[in-house]
Amino acid sequence: MGRLLSYEGKQNPYPLYEEMRAHGPVVAVGGTHVFVTGYEECARALRTPDLLSTDAVVQDAKLPGWREHSSWLWLTRNMLFSNDPNHERYRRFFSSAFSARSVAAFRPMVERRAHDVVRHVQDLGADGRTVDLVPEFSFRLATGVIGELLGIPDEDQPGLRELVGDITLALEPIGDMRQLLPGDAAMDRLAEYFHALVARRRVAPGTDLTSEFVRIRDAGEELTEQELVGNLMLLLVAAAEAPQDLLSNMVRLALERAEEAERLRKDPEAAAGFVDEALRFDPAVQALNRVAARDLDYFGVQVAEGTALTLLIAAGNRDPRRFDAPGVFDPRRPDNQPLTFSGGAHYCLGAALARMSAETVVSRLLTELPGMSLAGRPTFRDQIVQRGHDRLLVTTV
Ligand code: HEM
Repeated sequence: MGRLLSYEGKQNPYPLYEEMRAHGPVVAVGGTHVFVTGYEECARALRTPDLLSTDAVVQDAKLPGWREHSSWLWLTRNMLFSNDPNHERYRRFFSSAFSARSVAAFRPMVERRAHDVVRHVQDLGADGRTVDLVPEFSFRLATGVIGELLGIPDEDQPGLRELVGDITLALEPIGDMRQLLPGDAAMDRLAEYFHALVARRRVAPGTDLTSEFVRIRDAGEELTEQELVGNLMLLLVAAAEAPQDLLSNMVRLALERAEEAERLRKDPEAAAGFVDEALRFDPAVQALNRVAARDLDYFGVQVAEGTALTLLIAAGNRDPRRFDAPGVFDPRRPDNQPLTFSGGAHYCLGAALARMSAETVVSRLLTELPGMSLAGRPTFRDQIVQRGHDRLLVTTV
């Protein structure tokens, strides 16, 4: 486990997952922690109501002093870090905005943004200069899409990248509470931003989702103002960080495999399988946490109430009992259902949006800039839960 938290472990955690898997798909460590590396075992855990997400009650037991940190105070006001009945209430409020039907209606906007971001990369790289695709392509597209949906003006978006990145640091394993300080500061600034946005949309509504959410909230009072702001912040962070990492990963995986890049250029149908395989092979979210609400027997391992479970979904995605040749990147894999969007009650609300955006934009980038190639070895951020490139340098001509 220590090695997984080292810089080298974070650059390539996959051999370490295999070492853990050798001890079995569910492994208890020291009586208080359980690590799950099996596909079926992770999938079942996500659908077991007695395995709770980290909410305020769980944090009281797990992380004394957390209430002094605004990062976690705000996180526990959103649906991801809640359990029923709050989770059900939040999810009901927000879910129809991201249904398959809603997402189909977002497609023209995503295509317009994809067109603009590819032009932007083309302009930056026109004279042979290297372009870092993480800020200039992946983040720009992901934030542009969710920003437009939520009514965040484009000129406010560049400042958001650092805030979003700092907030995801609060989700990493916490050894020292000082690690939360950047996330606290970022969360305070973002909360202020969203409080102001909500107030603006209340007096001057637009066609964006924030205006719609404010209208529904004010009519029915299903959510408090803080819960509305907390969940709006979740929507921004969730739709910016993991999609950014997915896009960067997909481009890197394609540029490393010329024949796959060519397939994406020629066959629009190929994108869906490529997205699924990128999600499986190198997921933006590597691990999810749960806590046992009561004593249970979990695949033969005795799990006492209060035990923390780390579901290593990235390891589950490479479980040889579920996937043939799991270490091979194969976009034509049949029945490919990675664990990367979670499962059960917390199944990713933005999965359809993330898929559609990734399918649209990556093929377009490769098709319109066929001369693109990697400039140097891509590296990953120093993070293990949210994994993604910190830089992805390319040349485009
Ligand atoms: C590659 C892209 C994405 C990945 C890998 C991803 C991954 C995940 C995962 C693993 C969870 C559940 C965590 C758990 O069970 O504890 C989740 C939940 C969530 N995601 Fe995503 N996500 C992505 C994109 C998006 C987008 C675009 C949105 C925007 C709407 C979004 C919004 C959410 C929300 C609101 C939740 C909380 C759902 C709940 O608790 O009921 N995600 N996501």
